[in-house]
Amino acid sequence: MPDVREALMIGKRSDGTLVRRPLSPHLQIYKPQVSSTTSIMNRVTGIALSVGLLLMVWWLVAAATGPQAFATAQGFIGLILMFGWTLSLWYHFCNGIRHLLWDTGWGFEIQTSHRTALIVVIATAVLTLLSWIIGLAVWL
Ligand code: HEM
Repeated sequence: MPDVREALMIGKRSDGTLVRRPLSPHLQIYKPQVSSTTSIMNRVTGIALSVGLLLMVWWLVAAATGPQAFATAQGFIGLILMFGWTLSLWYHFCNGIRHLLWDTGWGFEIQTSHRTALIVVIATAVLTLLSWIIGLAVWL
């Protein structure tokens, strides 16, 4: 029996004749590359930032509600989540700037793209550590 999903592979040329659509390469076909990994991480951190924002609103509402609610929201896990959120923010911010530079047409050469990826990773580590050093110095 033919696989019904085959129907999705049928397309039409502009002259009306039927054609089998080409299959785009996808994750199981491409080997991981610097460009694909940094792009996937941009999506992962974008989603992490969105979920983290909801948690942060919950945390702020708990702080405004009272000491008992705040004690529930505050904790070690919260600190780990906050670390993940700052890491995501700095990665997404630095890689976001990389994306905006690409939008101007700059930085598509493979060597430049690899170099900017490395800059993004180093800048993310430095900015995250700096944020936490300053944050903890003010907090403690
Ligand atoms: C809390 C703040 C932020 C949140 C929640 C957020 C969330 C997101 C999400 C969900 C996406 C879509 C990811 C995808 O589907 O691939 C995205 C894409 C993007 N974000 Fe953010 N973002 C934030 C901050 C920023 C900042 C500060 C910048 C700039 C420096 C930025 C630049 C971008 C760019 C350029 C894209 C599109 C990337 C592409 O073309 O694929 N974002 N963001």
